[in-house]
Amino acid sequence: MSTLPLAEGKRGERYALPAIGLHWVIAVLIIGMLFLGYYMVGIPKGTPDRALYFNLHKSFGVLAGVLILMRLGWRLTHAAPPMPNGMPHWSTRAARWSHRLQYLCMVLQPATGYLSSSFNKYGVKFFGFALPNWAWEDRQLRDLFMGFHQIIAVVFAALIALHVLAAFKHLLVDRDRVFSRMLP
Ligand code: HEM
Ligand code: HEM
Repeated sequence: MSTLPLAEGKRGERYALPAIGLHWVIAVLIIGMLFLGYYMVGIPKGTPDRALYFNLHKSFGVLAGVLILMRLGWRLTHAAPPMPNGMPHWSTRAARWSHRLQYLCMVLQPATGYLSSSFNKYGVKFFGFALPNWAWEDRQLRDLFMGFHQIIAVVFAALIALHVLAAFKHLLVDRDRVFSRMLP
């Protein structure tokens, strides 16, 4: 058993269906959001396309944030299956830390985007519906949170790349149960 909140359950179990469903829906959203984010910042300022893509990014980002909070809530109350027997200690530790860091990025990425956009006169619209605007126009705070948003995006993309490589190593090289327990 881990002493940290992201605990592990009984050996041989697989992830529960809600954890699996949320993992894959959120994975698609986050990877899509990374591509959308880097694409949209290259669109010339003042064009309708830029506003359209920015609003899409904010809407899907808020949606991802809500699903991520649900996933974190589920995960903090449900143990994950422990790694298969015989897996090297370093590999188990690396997986555990990579998962923790990914949860941290999953929370911070939408939070910093939302905070940055809140300190902006445009505010945040969720698929056309303006969300309550509790903040004020503040360029310094907007740039500060956007700076974090940009740095976390790079760290997150690197973690995801490592995670996907590790998942395929388990599937193709180690041929253990690690990949299949994240499948329904
Ligand atoms: C899963 C969640 C999210 C991911 C993966 C993500 C990713 C990104 C990326 C990769 C960029 C480009 C960064 C750069 O220029 O270096 C970006 C920019 C941006 N994001 Fe997000 N984002 C997410 C959520 C959000 C949310 C929830 C909001 C606001 C409600 C938001 C607002 C913005 C804005 C306004 C920019 C452009 C800033 C600018 O350069 O003018 N993002 N995002
Ligand atoms: C944005 C993309 C992704 C994020 C943020 C992410 C995050 C995570 C996290 C945090 C876990 C640990 C689950 C837990 O213990 O609660 C996990 C497990 C897993 N992920 Fe991902 N994932 C992403 C994409 C992918 C992709 C594309 C694949 C496969 C190609 C994948 C394969 C797996 C597998 C096989 C597990 C189970 C590993 C284990 O049991 O230790 N993930 N993922």
